[in-house]
Amino acid sequence: MAKEFKRYLITSALPYANGPVHIGHLAGVYVPSDIYTRYLRMRGRDVVSVCGSDEHGVPITIKARKEGVSPQAVVDRYHEIIKDSFSRLGISFDIYSRTSSPTHRVTASDFFRKLYDEGKFIERTSMQYYDEEAGTFLADRYIVGTCPRCGNDRAYGDQCEKCGSTLSPDELIEPRSAVSGAVPVKRETKHWYLPLDKYEGFLRRWILEGHKEWKSNVYGQCKSWLDLGLQPRAVSRDLDWGIPVPVEGAEGKVLYVWFDAPIGYISATKDLTPDWEKYWKDGGTKMVHFIGKDNIVFHCIVFPSMLEAHGGYILPENVPANEFLNLEGDKISTSRNWAVWLHEYLDEFPGKEDVLRYVLCANAPETKDNDFTWRDFQARNNNELVAILGNFVNRALVLTKKYYDGVVPACGELTDYDRATIAEIGGIKASLEADIENYRFREALKDAMNFARIGNKYLADTEPWKVVKNDPERVKTILNIALQITANITVAIEPFMPFSADKILKMLNLERMSWDGLGSMSLVASGHVIDEPALLFEKIEDDVIEAQLKKLADIKAANAAAEAAAHVMAQKEEIAFDDFGKMDIRVSTILAAEKVAKTKKLLKLTVDTGIDKRTIVSGIAEHFAPEELVGRQVLVLVNLAPRELKGITSNGMILMAEDATGKLVLLGPENKVNDGAIVG
Ligand code: 2FM
Ligand code: ZN
Repeated sequence: MAKEFKRYLITSALPYANGPVHIGHLAGVYVPSDIYTRYLRMRGRDVVSVCGSDEHGVPITIKARKEGVSPQAVVDRYHEIIKDSFSRLGISFDIYSRTSSPTHRVTASDFFRKLYDEGKFIERTSMQYYDEEAGTFLADRYIVGTCPRCGNDRAYGDQCEKCGSTLSPDELIEPRSAVSGAVPVKRETKHWYLPLDKYEGFLRRWILEGHKEWKSNVYGQCKSWLDLGLQPRAVSRDLDWGIPVPVEGAEGKVLYVWFDAPIGYISATKDLTPDWEKYWKDGGTKMVHFIGKDNIVFHCIVFPSMLEAHGGYILPENVPANEFLNLEGDKISTSRNWAVWLHEYLDEFPGKEDVLRYVLCANAPETKDNDFTWRDFQARNNNELVAILGNFVNRALVLTKKYYDGVVPACGELTDYDRATIAEIGGIKASLEADIENYRFREALKDAMNFARIGNKYLADTEPWKVVKNDPERVKTILNIALQITANITVAIEPFMPFSADKILKMLNLERMSWDGLGSMSLVASGHVIDEPALLFEKIEDDVIEAQLKKLADIKAANAAAEAAAHVMAQKEEIAFDDFGKMDIRVSTILAAEKVAKTKKLLKLTVDTGIDKRTIVSGIAEHFAPEELVGRQVLVLVNLAPRELKGITSNGMILMAEDATGKLVLLGPENKVNDGAIVG
């Protein structure tokens, strides 16, 4: 039998305050955690949901250096943006704190100090990478190089974002400083390490034996970490941004961000309630960590080992980590601006908070990476929210208004079909609950939408708009049932789409109901007067989606240009002026163009060089259709020695450049010039 818990502590990964929140964060962590929390609240459970900004570590200092501002300015700015956008999306944390708070500083410091005093750390001096130009040690993301596993030449000192491997700076091939680009040297430095190897037995018993019910991606990752064998892990860093290591002789050293950040869950709870210990130290609490897959090791291996080393704290009961959400087929990336940013979405789609919540839940990467596309967003809005949910609610309310002036009619005698529909409605509750409680939120959302599907089918089959002409009594029963289903919908969708639940409640002229009401056919009393119906969702037109796709296309082009600029080929060997003078480049017009038979790349061009009309064979067939070339003025190197290509003699070379995407661009005069004009 499942263990009964007295209370719940829900934590959601603390987002780094180095940028705004995007749809990947939301689908992976915050939408699921909010659904779960709202559901528990509706069930009347004692639940607290805590989160806050992760304000330390290299992600913050890198951003500050890039922008030429202080780390404090970076975290102050993004903390506000993130906090505000969460609240606008209805993510209902009981507290959204920050790791620069005084409570957190003391809590994290005391935590470290207790472990230090009790000899739980190992002190080690080692040689670490140091940037002599910038005068700083290069931990984590301060050092980049080639990933030894996949060859990505921009892997970080702590992780390769391309293949997902966890790395240490020493593993990087050809390491270089991310701060100055310099080749680093090694310098001696002292740090404190948590000997994770000593906690292996505890972790094996707790996870591998005790939590076989965890999601397979989470359990599997833990097992592979444990099977590979754990190593001591440094919990301090040589940085000037973070919580100082509270030990004498540790000047210039701060706590590793992954040591302090999870303690942030404790400090946030402390800031929320003086009763915080009940949530953290009593076995009756069910703690659930909502995270993305890149955080599994920290929440399942490192933080639990810290809690075990400290003693007195409970451990998470579950860690339902999600996989990643991609955007239009590409990995979401803050640094490449490849994302749909929450604050921008909220500004551009006012009143459509629930549409995003719906799409991100319906498409959540629960068992594998998934893709967000704007076309899917549009389709789900138009075909599901508008056509199913909005349509049913609207029909039930409009017909009640029309036939009974908004007064809820009484339910009369039931037909077998009514009874079957009511039974179907009653049957959804159990599966909806089981799905939410087992973190299957996509399935749970389908369950919730089933109320509307059943309602639509019921109205389509019973056709009250026809029956009203001959049997008005029967229509009263039909609409009573339709209104009961509508009221059920407000309960079922509230965890997923709280704004829409409230809108329907307002139209029904009812207050929020508890979860217990779900499945009941007496949520709306006969004689009750409903309010004015209004459309719940509106269709999203193509031009809105096209504008979003254009925005992404512009970002892609800007990234490609930046990438090309970063990879510009080094200058060739110096030449004498006379060498240049030997080249005869002329403005010429392309008179004819045709494909060279049996080749993919070659075009045979006839050009007027002003000197003569000649043939040039050029490898540009994959970039240009012959007809788009005819009439174009180009630059031709006319005194290049002739070459034989596929039996055709080529007399010269057309000058071209390659753009950021690898496409060839013809070079020519801006305005028409006489053929034969000399370039130089
Ligand atoms: O990956 C991240 O975005 C981290 N800032 C998550 C921290 S979760 C917790 F431990 F605070
Ligand atoms: Zn890699």
